[in-house]
Amino acid sequence: MARIPQHIVDQIYNAMDIVDIVSDYVPLKKRGANYWARSPFNNEKTPSFAVNPVKGIYKDFSSGKGGNAINFLMEMEGYEYVDALKHVARKYNIEIEEEEETEEAKVERDKRQSLFVVNEFASRYFYEQLTESPKGRQIGLSYFKERGILDATIEEFQLGYCLDEWEAFSKAAVEKFYKEEYLIELGLVSRSEKTGNLIDRFRGRVIFPIANPVGKIVGFGGRILGKAQDIAKYINSPESEIYHKGQILYGLFQAKKTIRDLDLCILTEGYMDTVILHQNGIKNVVASSGTALTPEQIRLIRRFTKNVLMIYDGDAAGVKAALRGIDLLLKEGMNARVLVLPDNHDPDSYVNTFGAKAFTDFAEKEALSFLDFKIRVLSEGKPKNDPRHQAELIKSLAETVGHIPDMVERQMYIKHVAQQVDITEALMTHAVEDARRETSKLESRERRREESVTPPEENRAPVKDLKGFEQLPLASQEKELLRVIVNYYDKHFSTYEGPRETPDGTPIEVEEFPLLDYLIAELEGLTFENQTYEELKNQIFTEYTEMGSVNIQRYLNHDDDALRKTVSDLMISPYEISPGWKKHGAFVIDLDDDIRKTVEGPVYHYKYRKVERLLTECKDQLKAAEAEGNAAESDRLLEVYMYFLDMRKTIHKKIGTEGAIRSGDGRL
Ligand code: UTP
Ligand code: MN
Repeated sequence: MARIPQHIVDQIYNAMDIVDIVSDYVPLKKRGANYWARSPFNNEKTPSFAVNPVKGIYKDFSSGKGGNAINFLMEMEGYEYVDALKHVARKYNIEIEEEEETEEAKVERDKRQSLFVVNEFASRYFYEQLTESPKGRQIGLSYFKERGILDATIEEFQLGYCLDEWEAFSKAAVEKFYKEEYLIELGLVSRSEKTGNLIDRFRGRVIFPIANPVGKIVGFGGRILGKAQDIAKYINSPESEIYHKGQILYGLFQAKKTIRDLDLCILTEGYMDTVILHQNGIKNVVASSGTALTPEQIRLIRRFTKNVLMIYDGDAAGVKAALRGIDLLLKEGMNARVLVLPDNHDPDSYVNTFGAKAFTDFAEKEALSFLDFKIRVLSEGKPKNDPRHQAELIKSLAETVGHIPDMVERQMYIKHVAQQVDITEALMTHAVEDARRETSKLESRERRREESVTPPEENRAPVKDLKGFEQLPLASQEKELLRVIVNYYDKHFSTYEGPRETPDGTPIEVEEFPLLDYLIAELEGLTFENQTYEELKNQIFTEYTEMGSVNIQRYLNHDDDALRKTVSDLMISPYEISPGWKKHGAFVIDLDDDIRKTVEGPVYHYKYRKVERLLTECKDQLKAAEAEGNAAESDRLLEVYMYFLDMRKTIHKKIGTEGAIRSGDGRL
């Protein structure tokens, strides 16, 4: 990926006007200090979407989303960070000159760009063959017409046709000087073993170009025209530097806006299903096209909605895929429903047989929640009230429900399942907890957690410049540590500093520790003075300890106002909003590659400060207890005092005296 040089990034940040950028999507009305609109992310009647031009941020109260103009574009368009920057640069005519790159990086980038250009050419070529060449029209176009596909749809999806000749495309491509090597890597041509000539891989097939979420062509699917006998019905582009089939959803580019508007993504299995539903006005449709659904694909959808309706045909393979899809979707915090079509219909054949209206009616009536789907599938053909079957059913349901990361949601479902299978909620809760423990054991987290997470004493390098952390008031230190927790809860670090591979190039396995394990261990027994911070820290730590992971989105919808606000404030990094922020003496822990060094200095300094305070408080209480002659209390306090004294000694060992951890003094 090309890098945009920092001074250009600064220029982009300085030029961008969030009001201007958001106005490209929704009309804004000024009211007080802010501008307001109806949320572009949800359908809603009253405006709950605010833009603050001074701070350069937006906040969507209906979804809890917020951030700067770049975050907004990433949300809205599904952009990667760099694409969002480029969007703004285009809008404000800022020229992006490429960073001085290493020769390798340049070759790599040039290659990626070239691959896109080649695909773009191929897509255009196939489209023109389909719509303009006599043979293409006669054969390819009539095939699409037969299947009910309209010209507008052909244009929107850039469908195409590759002539049934050995070299028509290859010759056209070579004539334009596209590199053979790229044509082969992209799977558009292959080299004939017999003749040594380049031959067209997609010959005689209609073409479905596969786009990434921003509309660039990454690959192709090609279908034979008749029934498949002894050759594959579809062939697809192979994996290449720009195409990873597990990370792409067919049709997402055309569907993303409607998915967001309707807050629902319909997931089908096929190219045809996606195209036909779209043509019939059901536009929030994508296809996993021939691969089993992957977590990466789910995360793509999650940029636009949390709700997925999976459509499968009712055969055994379809049911199995649905069950697997459910668990994956739930794991990623999504809501999953399933629609099973009757009589081996797929969406395309259903719509063509019964019409689009019948399809939506059927979907509305027959779509099942993931639970009802599972209950139905697992109970089919099983004797009712058979205890063995009942136990199996409960176990399987518990496993699925156990995947739901959000605690509140999970409890809701536990209640629902308990009712459905007629056991008590407590029992079901138990079953789910068992299942979760089992799962996390499988994921072998346990083993890692038992290891010590404190970096070994030897082999320490100086911590980073603390930039004044040690001088911050305690409450600000707490806030900065909380910022680390909120933003980096899923990071890992390693204390190993040696080489990462052996001289002969074999990678050396390096143990990585979860950052949260480290923070939980270090902050054990210390209470944040600020109540909201303490509450938040506790909830996150508890969630992590119990569940093994954190779903930070949950806190953005927390019913405690102060808590919710704190999270969204902390998630929006102040210097992302204004690049100048940091220069004006403000402090923020900015995690970079060296996570351990960035975090441990602040942690020790905070602990030192905190323990000093606790010691003072404890000493005062001790004096008071002694003055009162309360021997029991003073004994207890003395023990507490000793405990903190001990803690201080440990920190001392780590940092020397207070203030000693400064840049480069080498004592840590
Ligand atoms: P289907 O056989 O259901 O295809 O395979 P379809 O999209 O409904 O196509 P029509 O209606 O027969 O024209 C579902 C998906 O599986 C992948 C394709 O992505 C297809 O859309 N597939 C199927 C392959 O990649 N190769 C194959 O040989 C078959
Ligand atoms: Mn079909």
